[in-house]
Amino acid sequence: MNATEQHLPTPRPAWIAGRAEQSDQTLAVHHPFDGNEIATVCVPNAEQVERAVAAAVDAQLTFRTTPAHVRAAALDHVSRQLAARAEEIAEMITAENGKPLRWAVLEVNRAVSTFRFAAEEARRFSGELQRLDTDPNAEGRLAVVRRVPRGPVLGIAPFNFPLNLVAHKIAPALAAGAPIIVKPAPRTPLSALLLGELLAETDLPEGSWSVLTVGNEETMALVKDPRLPVVSFTGSGPVGWSLMDAAPRKQVVLELGGNGAAVVCADWQDLDFAAKRIATFSNYQAGQSCIAVQRVIVERPVAEEFLPKLLDAIGALRTGDPHDPDVEVGPLVDEAAAERVEKWVNEAVSSGAKLLAGGKRDGATVEPTVLSEVPFDQNVWAEEVFGPVLSVSVVDSVDEAFAQVNDSKYGLQAGLFTKDVQVAFRARAELEVGGVIVGDVPSFRADQMPYGGVKGSGFGREGVRSAMADMTEERVMVLTGLEL
Ligand code: SIN
Repeated sequence: MNATEQHLPTPRPAWIAGRAEQSDQTLAVHHPFDGNEIATVCVPNAEQVERAVAAAVDAQLTFRTTPAHVRAAALDHVSRQLAARAEEIAEMITAENGKPLRWAVLEVNRAVSTFRFAAEEARRFSGELQRLDTDPNAEGRLAVVRRVPRGPVLGIAPFNFPLNLVAHKIAPALAAGAPIIVKPAPRTPLSALLLGELLAETDLPEGSWSVLTVGNEETMALVKDPRLPVVSFTGSGPVGWSLMDAAPRKQVVLELGGNGAAVVCADWQDLDFAAKRIATFSNYQAGQSCIAVQRVIVERPVAEEFLPKLLDAIGALRTGDPHDPDVEVGPLVDEAAAERVEKWVNEAVSSGAKLLAGGKRDGATVEPTVLSEVPFDQNVWAEEVFGPVLSVSVVDSVDEAFAQVNDSKYGLQAGLFTKDVQVAFRARAELEVGGVIVGDVPSFRADQMPYGGVKGSGFGREGVRSAMADMTEERVMVLTGLEL
């Protein structure tokens, strides 16, 4: 049995209020590399969707008061099971998403950590005491400040990390005691449904979670449903902003795209390291990450030495069948995505950019591509490419580099190769991004740290504790007549 066949043959059930249910309508899932059908999944009908929402609403009070040890044990269980089944799950991610196996393995490891962090946060989510006798009119008074869930959460996840970005919706919600309905990307629902399998093995109360593989129309109805006051969305800008417009009174968290930049400063000596990191992370998952390196901005004194190293590192990347453990760059999610990337590269070249490497497409696979002298209004520079395309710009100063990083409608993360702590602090102060990674690429993300963007990259933060903050609100109880 090959890696894709094992995912046939019966439709995977949807998870309605924690129970596996079949439905009449199904959706086929295809492997991006060869187009083969690898599974079918049930698409819940209107009655099932309504039952999931009603159950989440019914569960909210019970779940809020479910003991922390129960929620933490459930999250730990998922973490342990992901670790125990890592190989099988990585194969599944590669089958549904097309990312090379080595990246799928890393994604599973990250999801193991995401659930473990959530279990830890569930245990320490205690709130704080605030003494109020700092003012004469509040002598003997103490505030107990705790965060409570705003209500059931609707989590909408993208295709590019079908397991870990679903984990980033489910795990913090469950840690905070908020019921969650998660909607995976229709192209990659298998990992989310598998999380359903693992959650069903726990003691979480009925209604505290559902996994619904529904289409755009049903998703929009859920976004507008006042019973789901928190919407946490990861995906493209146009979709994200349209959701926010549709639900202006809700707590909407948007993790949108970026055109990540890495700045290589003249003081950075280990150019081999910078070149390898940039080559790898402009092409990992075929560039389909919001924090992939899309722009490299290099100071002139090191540019001549750096560029050949970069091209060598990119030339050494193996493309091909993502199930081959040696392959580093696989297909994009589908052929249409690859055609769009190819078109943007051709447009850039027609408008004066130089093609230094790659540029060709074969089906859904695009060669690792490097461009220089790209006009700044070209899509490959200004928009989110979400493909294995890197644009190089040579600058005369750190000021010019920072100006180029900031000359973007996006602001997710930036990488800064420098040893100069002054420049690092300047970057943190001046770069319009949610995170600056000093000594590495913008693509670095640890799942416990705050992660999110400014400008067109959205707002709100993921990272387990930050997401729990977004999904909850402070509630104060004042005690009076105390000896403080
Ligand atoms: C993203 O593409 O938004 C997530 C990147 C990551 O989790 O590494």
